[in-house]
Amino acid sequence: MHRRTMLKGLGAVASLPLLGSAAHAEDTVKIGLILPMTGQSASTGKQIDAAVKLFMAQNGDSVAGKKVQVILKDDTGVADVTKRLAQELIVNDKVAVLAGFGLTPLALAVAPLATQAKVPEIVMAAATTIITQKSPYIVRTSCTLPQTTVPLADWAAKNGIKTVVTLVSDYGPGIDAAKAFKGRFTKAGGKITGELTAPLRNPEFAPFLQKVRDLKPDALFLFVPSGQGAALMKQVAERELTKAGIKVIATGDVTDDDQLPDMGDSVLGMVTTHFYSAAHPSPENKAFVAAFEKANPKMRPNFMAVGGYDGMHLIYEALKKTGGKTDGTALVDAMKGASWTSVRGPVKIDPATREIIQTVYVRKVEKVDGQLYNIEFDKIPDVVPPSPDGN
Ligand code: PHB
Repeated sequence: MHRRTMLKGLGAVASLPLLGSAAHAEDTVKIGLILPMTGQSASTGKQIDAAVKLFMAQNGDSVAGKKVQVILKDDTGVADVTKRLAQELIVNDKVAVLAGFGLTPLALAVAPLATQAKVPEIVMAAATTIITQKSPYIVRTSCTLPQTTVPLADWAAKNGIKTVVTLVSDYGPGIDAAKAFKGRFTKAGGKITGELTAPLRNPEFAPFLQKVRDLKPDALFLFVPSGQGAALMKQVAERELTKAGIKVIATGDVTDDDQLPDMGDSVLGMVTTHFYSAAHPSPENKAFVAAFEKANPKMRPNFMAVGGYDGMHLIYEALKKTGGKTDGTALVDAMKGASWTSVRGPVKIDPATREIIQTVYVRKVEKVDGQLYNIEFDKIPDVVPPSPDGN
C-alpha cells in the first residue's frame, strides 16, 4: 500500500535512475500539522486530525502531480512547544505549509516564523481577531469571535433581553467575544450589568455563576473554548440559573458537537450562534457527518473538524492553482478569493484580510432521535469578520 502510493506520487519522474531522495523530496508537498493532541485542548486536536485524515481518504494523497505528506505534531497546547515544532518543521522537514493551531497563543507564536520563512500558516481553529494581522502568510478557515458573537447580540436585543452579564475565558477570544457582544448589544439599547472573566487553565466557574445569580440579569452570555463547555454547563445546571429566571446564551463553542451529546437535558432550549452544527441540513453536510462517524466511531464532528477539513480543501485548491508550485507567496495568493460550498454552507476567503466570510447560524439545543443537537432556526449569510467592538 505504502509502496504503491509512493510510486504513484513519483509517477511524473520519467527516468528511473534519477529516483534519488532529492527527486522524491521535490515531488512531495509536506504539510506540518501542529495540534494540541494531549492536554486541556486535546478534543480540538483529535477533531482536526480526524478531519484531515478523512479529507485525504476522500480526495487522495496527491494533488497537481505532487504527493501530499502530513506531518502531525502534538504541541500539548503550549505556545513555546508550538514555536519549536514549527521551527523544526520549517528547517528540518522543509514543509511547504504549516497548519492547525488549536488556541490563539499557539497561532500567534508561529506568526513571525511564517513571515520570515514565507511559509503559509493555515489557522484551522484559533479565533481571536488579531491573528491574521500578525503575518501576511496567515490564512484562517475557522472564524473570529466577533463574527460569531455579533449575530447573538442582535438576537438578544430583538428578543426582549435588556440586561446581560458576560462571562468569558480570560484570554484573546474571550476578551474579543465580550467586547463584541457589549459593543453591539449596547448600541441596540441593551445594558451590560457585569463583565466577568474566568481563567483559561483549570477554571472553577462556581464563584462566577454565584455572582451572576446575585446580579440577576435577563441573560448570561458565555464563551469558553471548545472542550470546556461540558464542565461549564454542568456548573450552570447546578446553580439553577434558568430557574432563577436568567436565560443562558453563548457562542457555539460552548455547545460544540464534540461534547454536546453528553451535556444532559439541562441545556435543552439554549440559544447559541456559530458557523457549524453537525445537524446542518445540507446534502454536503449529511455526507460529511456520515463519513466522519463511519471513520471515527462514537465521535461526532464539531466545528473544529470543519475548520480542518476546509483548511485541507483550501491547501489542495491552492496547489491546483499553482500547478503544484510550493512557493509560499504564490500559495497564499492562490488562496485569496477562493470560494466553495463547505459542509457549513458557502464560504469565501476575503482577499484583503485572509479571513473566511461565511454564514452564521442562530441555533437552539433540541433532541433529535434522543440525541442533543444545535438546531439552526435563523441565519445571517456572508458575515464578514467585524471590528472587535462588534460595530
Ligand atoms: C482560541 O484560542 O482562539 C479558541 C479556541 C477554541 C475556541 C475558540 C477560540 O472554541
